[in-house]
Amino acid sequence: MIINSPTELIFRDLFYRLDSFANGHDVFLKLEGMHITGSIKFKTAMGLIEDLERRGVASPGETTIIESSSGNLGMALSLVCAAKGYRFICVTDANAARSNVKGMKLYGAEVIVVNKPDPVDGLLGARLKTIEQLLEKEPNSIWLNQYANVAAKNVHAEQTAGEIIEEFEKVDWIFVGSGTTGTITGVAERLREVFPGVKVVAVEPEGSVTFGGKSKKRKIPGIGTSVRPPLADYIDPDEVIAISEARTVESCREFVRDYHLLIGGSTGAILEAVRTKKSEFSPGETIVAISPDMGEKYLDTIYEPSWVAANIDNILPNLDDADVSWIASTGQQRQISKGEVLISAGEPVEALYILLEGELSVMLGEDNVVAALVAGDIVGEMSLIEKQPPMVSVVCAQDARILDISHSELRRRLESDTDFAARFYEAFAAFLSYRLRSTMARFRYEDSDYGEQDFLETQDKLEKDLQAPQHFTGNRMNQLLARLEGGS
Ligand SMILES: Cc1ncc(COP(=O)(O)O)c(C=O)c1O
Repeated sequence: MIINSPTELIFRDLFYRLDSFANGHDVFLKLEGMHITGSIKFKTAMGLIEDLERRGVASPGETTIIESSSGNLGMALSLVCAAKGYRFICVTDANAARSNVKGMKLYGAEVIVVNKPDPVDGLLGARLKTIEQLLEKEPNSIWLNQYANVAAKNVHAEQTAGEIIEEFEKVDWIFVGSGTTGTITGVAERLREVFPGVKVVAVEPEGSVTFGGKSKKRKIPGIGTSVRPPLADYIDPDEVIAISEARTVESCREFVRDYHLLIGGSTGAILEAVRTKKSEFSPGETIVAISPDMGEKYLDTIYEPSWVAANIDNILPNLDDADVSWIASTGQQRQISKGEVLISAGEPVEALYILLEGELSVMLGEDNVVAALVAGDIVGEMSLIEKQPPMVSVVCAQDARILDISHSELRRRLESDTDFAARFYEAFAAFLSYRLRSTMARFRYEDSDYGEQDFLETQDKLEKDLQAPQHFTGNRMNQLLARLEGGS
């Protein structure tokens, strides 16, 4: 195969048969992450620019293309505009994968990162406002507006749906992630013409408003919106399935393990949605799902435990209510005052402290504060497991309230109730691992003889000792805190 331009790198007939994926049914995953720039948005980008050219409203060297993208469309437009000779300005936000932003700039795009959400319309709203300002400022500029531009729908009706129709004699189920809704509107429109009985399932993250959900902060890019996109008026899905981001992360990991393909975040949600419908599939039905991109660009986010810990809620199942009540009733709440030493380096620690309110400092020496602990943090955890005196002191930085749970009580319960121990250690190991990572990030090694290696070794040991799961959470203990505060 010899190509004359990278824009020829489109793979139209690539379907991964997932053997017995859902209740014994095969699922065909249409891989759209193999195109140049790594996502389905390459087709969208070509479609949007070619539409302008067909209509005679843009010319290379004169027109400035403006678009808002969380990354994938931005990457794709950067290449298409560079190859065709257009100046391109991309407005994006802090959720965009860093590698995408880098890539866009390498292709010559100008990238504006919006970090502050609009108080009413969220980050997307803030991005749209920035675009309005650019359109006023830049001469000969055109905003592609993938959220409303029917060219973003038509390209998927012609191409993506066309490719599916080419491959299968009939399609009974089609699962499509929904962001701008360009893909699903186009694919559904065409597939319904050809296969009238096809069931179209829109997949969203929890917290997306497109199909009437309640807005919630989301961290995984590609699917979901905080403002309903106008293109969504072109689609009435047979079903909308909202998947939690925690489940999405787990689904990605499971898929890499079981099907050996590093998929992007939204694909994890889409495959999870397929699973939720598995009992409704009948023998002989053809089930197709679209995978918008691959996972390499998410290695530092959804595939990175410390990022997951810091960003995704509810990654692990909750501690039982009974566990929480036990912790609440066994522990003693008490006030501590600024300057009070909660833990002294070198001396045994007898209790686990959950910080309910206020702030504590972790100190290496008298003036050497290495970390600040806030509500939801736990202190004394190392001593529970390591049975070694701590190497740091913990001092009350401002008046605080703590829940003090004696190690001996905790050990008694852990030893007598293996189910509790399993749940507790899982939550605990996750929390610890996160804490170690985040503490490390703030650690000033040069000031101390307590080096990075110590942290790494401790963390390693803990994870092994506790057979910690591969996912971690920091928020977990904040949930515990909320429940303790709620008096459960
Ligand atoms: C990673 C990812 N997932 C899902 C989607 C959904 O596509 P659309 O914006 O067409 O709704 C996109 C956009 O393609 C995406 O980049």
